[in-house]
Amino acid sequence: MQDDKILVSEDINEYWGGEWTETKNDIVYKYANAYLQIMKDKKYWKLLYFDGFAGEGIVKGLDEKSQDMKERFSSAFRIIEIDKPRSFDMYYLVELNKKKAKELDDNINSKFLKKTKSIFIISEDCNKKLVDMSKYLQSKNGQKTKVLAFVDPYGMEINWESIECLKGLSIDLWILLPTGIGINRLLKRDGNISDEWMIKLEKALGLSSKIIKDYFYKKEIENTLFGEISFTKKQENSIDKIVSLYKDRLSEIFEYVSNPYELKNSNGNKMYHLLLASNNKTAQKIANDIIKLKN
Ligand SMILES: C[S@@+](CC[C@H](N)C(=O)[O-])C[C@H]1O[C@@H](n2cnc3c(N)ncnc32)[C@H](O)[C@@H]1O
Repeated sequence: MQDDKILVSEDINEYWGGEWTETKNDIVYKYANAYLQIMKDKKYWKLLYFDGFAGEGIVKGLDEKSQDMKERFSSAFRIIEIDKPRSFDMYYLVELNKKKAKELDDNINSKFLKKTKSIFIISEDCNKKLVDMSKYLQSKNGQKTKVLAFVDPYGMEINWESIECLKGLSIDLWILLPTGIGINRLLKRDGNISDEWMIKLEKALGLSSKIIKDYFYKKEIENTLFGEISFTKKQENSIDKIVSLYKDRLSEIFEYVSNPYELKNSNGNKMYHLLLASNNKTAQKIANDIIKLKN
């Protein structure tokens, strides 16, 4: 029987405690600062920050170095704090878990006096909100809006369809891709993937099971004493292949995609890759520069 827990509890501890959780938010934070710097005099654009997996805002986690519990601010919190040279005009924070969404609301109210900024907290599925946002951006009002979005899931919650609907829009999208922790774990060594897992892969990658199997597996023949045996073998470097495939998929929707930033856990295992997709060449350059400095 397959273990359907794709993200195990140790990974969640790593997620909150690992230094890399800070690193990923640092990258997006640095990018947001550069973005606002470029947009500082372009007041005719309404700027929207969209955080698709916002969390509760203030997170307690174990500090790897000191082994003490420490508080850290979520991606959305850090970006809401930016005021200079300008701030975003609107913040749209999506958190599916109702309890966390309420905590986020309380935390934002106590820290930022929400009234002073236009902050919307929505407890729904990020996939739905990405589709809604794409419709808004195509509407008359939305055409004056530029978006910086960050989608930061634990696992394989983002459907390819929700990314696809952003084609041609004014959106710079940072996406955390669960390469090692999600997709690669579903791609079983022997190719014997349950229907349930294959559906997850198809949804995340927007590809048919045949294309997925042809890309990640090859047929091999072994000569034995009593004749040939054919078997399916997973290709080497499957995590790198996932990144390359997803980058190609993003390039079908966005004109420019950054280099991937690799996030490893404390044991050196590749867990996620962070990428920026945009229709703006400068966006790609800035993202690559930030990523290079972090490497
Ligand atoms: C990795 S955490 C987000 C971390 C956050 N960006 C930060 O900097 O602290 C993912 C969050 O997404 C929420 N979530 C899970 N599935 C979701 C979905 N389909 N839509 C929106 N939020 C979801 C989880 O409850 C969790 O709080």
